[in-house]
Amino acid sequence: MRKIAFFDTSLRDGEQTPGINLNGKEKLELARALAAAGIDVIEAGFPAASKGDFEAVMQIAKEIKGSSVAGLCRAVEADIHTAWEALRFAEKPRIHVFIATSPLHMEFKLRKQPDQVLASAVKAVKLAKSYCQQVEFSCEDATRSEIPFLIEICKAVAEAGATVINLPDTVGYTVPQDYAKMIAAVRAELPPEVQISAHCHDDLGMGVANTLAAIEAGADQVETTVCGIGERAGNAAFEEVVMALTTRADHYQVEHNINTRRIYNLSRLVSKYTGIDIPAGKAVIGDNAFLHQSGIHQHGVMANRLTYEIMSPESIGRPSSDNMVLGKLSGSHAFATKLEEWGFHLSPEDLAFAFARFKELADVKKDVTMRDISAIIGGRLREVPNTISLENYQIMSCNTISTTATVCLRRGDEVLRRAAIANGPVDAAFEAITDMLEMPLNLESYSIKAVTEGRDALGEVTVRVRYHDSIYMGKGVSNDIIESSILAYINAINRLFAEELTAE
Ligand code: KIV
Ligand code: ZN
Repeated sequence: MRKIAFFDTSLRDGEQTPGINLNGKEKLELARALAAAGIDVIEAGFPAASKGDFEAVMQIAKEIKGSSVAGLCRAVEADIHTAWEALRFAEKPRIHVFIATSPLHMEFKLRKQPDQVLASAVKAVKLAKSYCQQVEFSCEDATRSEIPFLIEICKAVAEAGATVINLPDTVGYTVPQDYAKMIAAVRAELPPEVQISAHCHDDLGMGVANTLAAIEAGADQVETTVCGIGERAGNAAFEEVVMALTTRADHYQVEHNINTRRIYNLSRLVSKYTGIDIPAGKAVIGDNAFLHQSGIHQHGVMANRLTYEIMSPESIGRPSSDNMVLGKLSGSHAFATKLEEWGFHLSPEDLAFAFARFKELADVKKDVTMRDISAIIGGRLREVPNTISLENYQIMSCNTISTTATVCLRRGDEVLRRAAIANGPVDAAFEAITDMLEMPLNLESYSIKAVTEGRDALGEVTVRVRYHDSIYMGKGVSNDIIESSILAYINAINRLFAEELTAE
């Protein structure tokens, strides 16, 4: 059987989702989880884009074994040198060069003639090849390019040393039949040792369908993101493509290296770090994906699960119950083993932190569940240097007058205190912090959810805060929802400070 390689771009295209910015630690943790799931190629970032991206790619390149680590670059010399500097320590480095090939992009974005684009592409691939064996070349906006030109440029870069040629549907414009035709046409013109890759965006909701059509037409590699995160409407969702290939192996007749039992935890990790909630009805990974509501369905499933279930929750590593199997008296060893089983690979310091929080929580909360633990770990991994931290707060609230919040923060040796009046406790607390820091902060979005059921559930708050043109996401978790809110706001502000420091 043919083997399909999975190229994950959650850390690069996925990070281009509006409002997401992952720090180096989060990217490394995700890269570890992707490698553990059997991803063949991890696109770790765009090294020339920023100092932060460069460092994250380098860290991932140094640590990850087994999977190839790729870095994106434009077809320009400086980008390729920078990408190589970041990738050089990888066990299996891959330089990924792209240039646009559609008439629209060439004329209006690049302002180049097709022969100039072709020359830049060949030059860039040759330079990349002088550094590393694996070179991927992408024809940006391939699906709106002219097929004869596409074939010409693909043949030229293959000759120059490209080992993988990617034909992205950059704007999510294609339909399965057309994409399959394009893949087959290019495949027919290239030597068999050159791999063809599919990269589909989801603007018309066809990212997964187009990716699967490409596989049927001869693509060797697919580029996906976990939970389908990505620019605009996102990319083809990894979990949907892999489960389609697995569940309908009879139809697709291809193999892959993915351990599907890692899917559930991978999706939860991505959701945690990006702050993007997974809709309940999302295929494969949504909370409702394996729930049977109607009596007829429940009856059928009780008699034989196959009546209404085409795949099992276990096959994606979804625990049949999220209830914690560890009790209050569990030791650190059992705790660490359970976390590994759930797909969390933590450093000793993070593990010690998670264990301490688990013990604290077990004292105040009757049932500590996997979702609680995952919230705690997510919070920890989202941590950035605490330029400011919460000392204490006081709220005076009642339903007939405005609310007063007094918030006290620490910034180094300084203790800052401010009171503000607003319509509700969260509003008043945020107002006090914004006033105190004298920064133009705007709350773009706020959401709260109970991590588990029950009145003693932890409350998890996610905020998106705008500062000039950038948006920073923050999360806070506590038994007290006002505290969760303040912690989330502070977390977003600390991320802003951290980014300003990295940029310096
Ligand atoms: O969508 C796209 O065209 C891309 C390329 C840069 C590979 O993400
Ligand atoms: Zn893309």
